[in-house]
Amino acid sequence: MSILNEIFEKALHSRIFINRELLLPDYVPDELPHRDKQIVQLGKILAPSLAGYRPSNVFIYGLTGTGKTAVTKYVLRKLIEKAKGKVISAYINCRNSDTNYRVLADLIFSLGKSVPFTGLSTAEVFSRFKNYLDSKRKIMIVVLDEIDYLVKKSGDGVLYHLTRINSCLKHSKLSLIGITNDLKFTEYLDPRVKSSLGEEELVFPPYTGKELEDILRIRAEKALRKDALAPGVIPLCAAIAAKQNGDCRLALDLLLKAAEMAEREDANIVTERHVRLAQREIEKNLVIDVIISMPLHVKLVLLAIYLAEAFNTPEQTTGEIFNVYKDVCRKMGVDPVTQRRVSEIISELDMLGLINAKVVSMGRYGRTKKIKLAASKTSILEGLKSDRELYDILEHIIEEFK
Ligand SMILES: Nc1ncnc2c1ncn2[C@@H]1O[C@H](COP(=O)(O)OP(=O)(O)O)[C@@H](O)[C@H]1O
Ligand SMILES: [Mg+2]
Repeated sequence: MSILNEIFEKALHSRIFINRELLLPDYVPDELPHRDKQIVQLGKILAPSLAGYRPSNVFIYGLTGTGKTAVTKYVLRKLIEKAKGKVISAYINCRNSDTNYRVLADLIFSLGKSVPFTGLSTAEVFSRFKNYLDSKRKIMIVVLDEIDYLVKKSGDGVLYHLTRINSCLKHSKLSLIGITNDLKFTEYLDPRVKSSLGEEELVFPPYTGKELEDILRIRAEKALRKDALAPGVIPLCAAIAAKQNGDCRLALDLLLKAAEMAEREDANIVTERHVRLAQREIEKNLVIDVIISMPLHVKLVLLAIYLAEAFNTPEQTTGEIFNVYKDVCRKMGVDPVTQRRVSEIISELDMLGLINAKVVSMGRYGRTKKIKLAASKTSILEGLKSDRELYDILEHIIEEFK
């Protein structure tokens, strides 16, 4: 199979990549430009652990992609190297571990022990963790990343006990680092938890376009071949991400996807066109992800807006959407929800950024909403098609509306 051989050879001798992995989001690079201040601050807060003192708890916040996770992992890695066994750490992402039980089970696991997945009371698991930790005679630094997921799903019970654990430990000590993108979640916290978690606070501001360019350039140096990038590529990735709240994750994702597009096309260099293609793909995936997780009637209202826009006039009122929606429900054989609920759904879709609904005055007839799609039609259609129930009937409904 010479063709297969060709494919394999190409993969071995990429014209674009030197090491693709260096651009993946979970890779923590050796250098984090424009985060010196936060690295030094966190380093100073944690340094006392080297001399056997318990560091203050730290609360870290800032928007997505501002380097919170990367900086925390980086500083901890350096600290653990330096501590030569005196300090231990655990990193827990609360998006995956969003119950009190799971967090404690993960902590126990990081001490080299284990507990069953279920069956024990949380109090029992906590007590085991406390005993294991104390017998270690170490300082333990626990990172709870995306801590808002834990608190919103399961409350702050485990945080309360973890912030108080030191009074029950004789030989070990524990410090917490809580990280979040969502400052509002602190409203859900017991004031005592809030104040002990926030002994120290660190803010991560969004990156500017210029800063993102520096970051991308350094990461691209080792990941991509020297001549594989057209000059405008990095500035474009940085500019797009700077508009999205300075999100470095997006900047890297754009660069990686653009490079993959170029490679798939067998091109020698990545160009701005590849970045635009990558941008469209990323937006499409976001739209699809949002739609997949929506309840059926939210999808049906979105479908109604899609149909109204595709086959009628580009701006619709709530009443018109409601009529199309009822029609869709009839064709699907499901009972419609009320117009009032549809109106709420329209506001939800607006907040998700899938549609634009602006309120306009109709003089003495009151006010109404003018509704139009904000995301691309193809992405919306693809998102809706990912619903099994809708998949079979969608083409049929669209046909009938033409
Ligand atoms: N200063 C930086 N230098 C290099 N890469 C960075 C820098 N800041 C963030 N990154 C990268 O950007 C992505 C998002 O950063 P991350 O730390 O996950 O953000 P957050 O946790 O704030 O959402 C990660 O892949 C990370 O490696
Ligand atoms: Mg993070």
